[in-house]
This record gives sequence, C-alpha cells and structure tokens, in this order.
Amino acid sequence: MERNEFIKSLGLGIALVCTGSCMTGCGSKGDDPTPAPGGGGGGGGSAGTKVNVDLGSQLLTVGAFLASGGVLFIRTATGNAASSFVATQASCPHQGGALNWVQASNVIQCSLHSSKYTTTGSIVAQPNDGGTTSALKVYALAVSGTTLTATIS
Ligand code: FES
Repeated sequence: MERNEFIKSLGLGIALVCTGSCMTGCGSKGDDPTPAPGGGGGGGGSAGTKVNVDLGSQLLTVGAFLASGGVLFIRTATGNAASSFVATQASCPHQGGALNWVQASNVIQCSLHSSKYTTTGSIVAQPNDGGTTSALKVYALAVSGTTLTATIS
C-alpha cells in the first residue's frame, strides 16, 4: 500500500467513527421519558398492592397508628381481628399532607391544613387554607396470624 492510499483509508476510517458517534450522541426522540399516568393524588401505592404490619410488635394499643407504604393503619379496638383496625390512604387528598389519628377526638387529621376525616373516610372539616379536600380512600384489611394486610384499591 502506498503512503497516499494509507492516509486516504485512515481518513475515511476516522470519518466513519466520527459519524457513528455523532449519530449515537443525538439519540432518538423516542427515548424521552414519559411521566407516569395517574401520579400524585396522595393515594400511596398502586391498586392491588398489599402492605403488611406485624401485629406482634406494632399497633399494640387502641389508638395506636402508623403510616407504611402509603397506608395509614389505625387500631380502633382490642383483639387482632381485621375489624379492630382501619386503613386509609396515608397522605391527604388536598395537598398531600401527612395524616395522623387523633384518638381523643376520633378523627384522622391532616398535619398540613388540619382537614379532618372519619375512619370511613368522610370529611369532618375542610382544610384551614380555604381549599377543599375530598374523602379518603379506605382499604380492605385481612389478618393472618399476626400479620395485618391492607390491599390498596
Ligand atoms: S394537605 Fe391536608 S388539608 Fe391541606
């Protein structure tokens, strides 16, 4: 191979490499991430998701509550039957504030704008910022041994 031919072939190789990397760098518009539909709303996990609580160490006394996996669990009675507990969404439908159980007044209260709900999810008090909220989602519960399971719907 002559020196001129070698240089020409080398130049062609470099040109092909540059073109390839440019095409790769540009990518395709089909790779754009798409926002997940139905996001937000404060509902926690997706429908059908199961969230467990260990009744051997959690929710031991009437009035105890905890938020886990997007679910607010509340013990409303003694015993470990499913009917001894309530499970609702853990974040407020208004603007996503954390919900807490207030045993003294038997309501679920938002920590952000103080809206209040019953254990069936009904609204007792609207947010104190002049906004409006909607009813809470209430989830089905089951007990197996010492495991309490809520199914997000
Ligand atoms: S976020 Fe709960 S009342 Fe506003």
